[in-house]
Parts: sequence; structure tokens; C-alpha cells
Amino acid sequence: MHTNPPLLSVRDLVVKYRVKGGRGGLLTAVNGVSFDIHAGSIFGLVGESGSGKTSLAHSIMQLVQPCAGEVLFHGENLAHMKQASLQKTRRNIQLVFQDPLASLSPRRSIAQTLIEPLDHFRIDVAGKRHARACRALETVGLEPDVLQRFPHELSSGQRQRVALARALLPEPELIIADEAVSSLDVSVQARIIELILDLRQNLGIAFLFIAHDLAVIQQLADRVGVMYLGKMIEIAPAHRLFRQAAHPYTRALLEAVPVPDPAHANPVVLQGEPPSALTPPAGCVFHTRCPQVMEQCRVLEPLDTQINEPGLKNTAHHVWCHLWKE
Ligand SMILES: Nc1ncnc2c1ncn2[C@@H]1O[C@H](COP(=O)(O)OP(=O)(O)OP(=O)(O)O)[C@@H](O)[C@H]1O
Ligand code: SF4
Ligand SMILES: [Mg+2]
Repeated sequence: MHTNPPLLSVRDLVVKYRVKGGRGGLLTAVNGVSFDIHAGSIFGLVGESGSGKTSLAHSIMQLVQPCAGEVLFHGENLAHMKQASLQKTRRNIQLVFQDPLASLSPRRSIAQTLIEPLDHFRIDVAGKRHARACRALETVGLEPDVLQRFPHELSSGQRQRVALARALLPEPELIIADEAVSSLDVSVQARIIELILDLRQNLGIAFLFIAHDLAVIQQLADRVGVMYLGKMIEIAPAHRLFRQAAHPYTRALLEAVPVPDPAHANPVVLQGEPPSALTPPAGCVFHTRCPQVMEQCRVLEPLDTQINEPGLKNTAHHVWCHLWKE
């Protein structure tokens, strides 16, 4: 249990994009999302395609400017940081993407790829860069001879390990992994999951682990957040979410994966596609697909409700659904 303040606090974050073409307008990709990640913990983030997971990740890194809300790292607001502090914080938060072939430059050897962040973050390791790169490779289970290779000469699993090694070099406290295992086959996926658990255990690195796949999240996460159409609709400790999911959308997602001993009283089958983020439904954003929709759901937005005993924040189970109104 955590009594320390969170490593990362996201508060009421809103991200909008200006959409060109058609009737144009503002698309709300992230709509008032809040959550915390504690040092050394793994927060799993799930939701269908287009629910706003990547936009959330990018706005945490300030790669996309949020138009409202706060991102606090060690209690400090990233938006108010001076350039030098922001640079230091960016070193402390690293991003790993889904497709390492796209994020690793094809014309650069792995040695060049791994040494680049050391230059960028001005890490003073003159003469020791090669040794550091070898150590990072060793941490992710690769031999030093990989340094001389180019991305296309490696397997997809080896490339994802290189991407993780690159993220580890600046010794971050938080890694945001955006669909980092989604393109890998199941056995490679299992080894990368093991590696992430080792990195958390041995180096105390926290993860924001984004995935479509609830089965992957179940193997990794301490806490899980579920997004739908830019909203966080449920946050719970992983063990609770997989046994006692409260939101009809989460329950529907769980129906789609084999979960041991699911305690689903009323199985829910998710039908149709989510509505456009340009014209989200009024009231509860899920009401157009919810099998338990009630009249009030069409007009009233559900509020944050904690449904377990009040206690430490990291054990709290929150749901945004009128079925759980106190
Ligand atoms: N640069 C952009 N300009 C306009 N709209 C965007 C932009 N990036 C994302 N969007 C829109 O914002 C919404 C959220 O997209 P986002 O990529 O964050 O979702 P996601 O949950 O990461 O999806 P996926 O699982 O497919 O990666 C979608 O409606 C998407 O079309
Ligand atoms: S608020 Fe209503 S529509 Fe939304 S998930 Fe709950 S029951 Fe379904
Ligand atoms: Mg995405």
C-alpha cells in the first residue's frame, strides 16, 4: 500500500484537436481524465481504438498541449516548468511505442540508436557510452553484438527489447508503453511482459501500460483504468477489476477475453461501434451501446463514485455510472 504522494498525478486533463475537412470543428480526445501512478507501480490503461489512450499519453509528455487540467510529476506541474526542469522531467518519463520498426531509424545502427539519448539528455558518460549501451542491452536480455546491427536485421521481439533498452538509458522513473507488446506474437509478448515485471521489481520503474488486450493488462497491472470516448469510466485495483468489474462497458470488454473465474452476474455483449468523438452522446457517453441504459443516462453525465470501502487511494474502486449512484 502506498502512503507516499504519487509519482504522476493527472488531474481533469482535456485534449482537443482541431479537425479540418467536412464540417471541421473541435474533437475532444481526452475529456476530464484524472488518475495517479505511484512509484514502482504499473497502471494499465485499456479501451477500444479511438478512446483517447495515445492522446492521453502524449499530453502527459506535453507532446500534445492539454487545453485544460494538470500533469504533476513529483507534485510539480509540467505546464509551469522552466525549460531545464521540463528537460529533466522528460528524461525521467520515457515513451515506448507499438512498432519499434517505425520508432527505430532504419539507417542507424543499434549502437547509434542507443547512444543518441545519452547525447540528448547530456548524460556525462564520456568514454563510457559503449559500456552503458551494453549494460542496457544486457538488462533487456540482448547480447552486445546487437550494437553493430540495424533494425531490419533483428526480430520484432529483439527490436522491442532495443526500444526498451533505449528507454532505460536515461534511467527513468516512469515508462509509458503505448501498445508496446500489441504487435508481437504471444510467446514474444510473454517474454517482454516478464521483462517489464523484472524492470519494475529490480529497478523500481513505474509503468503506464497502454493496451487493447485485457489479458495482457491482467498479467501486468496493479491498477487499471478503462477509457471510453475520451472519458475514464472505471478505475480499480487489477484484482478487483477482473473479478468485480462495475461498469457495463468494462464488463462487456471482459466478456471478450477468457478470464479465470469471472464473477459476471449479468453477461454483457458489446454491440456496434463507438459514436464519433466529434459528436459524443449527451449524458453518459456509453448510453448508445449500454444494455442497461436508463432514461437519466441520456441526459445526465454520471459522476465519479467510489464503490468500495474508503481507504488508501490506491485501493479505491471508482466507477462513472448511474447504476452505482449512492
Ligand atoms: N492529431 C490528431 N488530429 C485529429 N484527431 C486526432 C488526432 N490524433 C487522434 N485523434 C482522434 O482522437 C481520438 C483519440 O485518438 P487516440 O489515438 O488518442 O486513441 P487511442 O485510444 O490511442 O486509439 P488506438 O487504440 O487506435 O491507438 C480519435 O477520435 C482520433 O481519431
Ligand atoms: S450510466 Fe447508464 S448508460 Fe452509462 S453505463 Fe451506466 S447504466 Fe449504462
Ligand atoms: Mg493509440
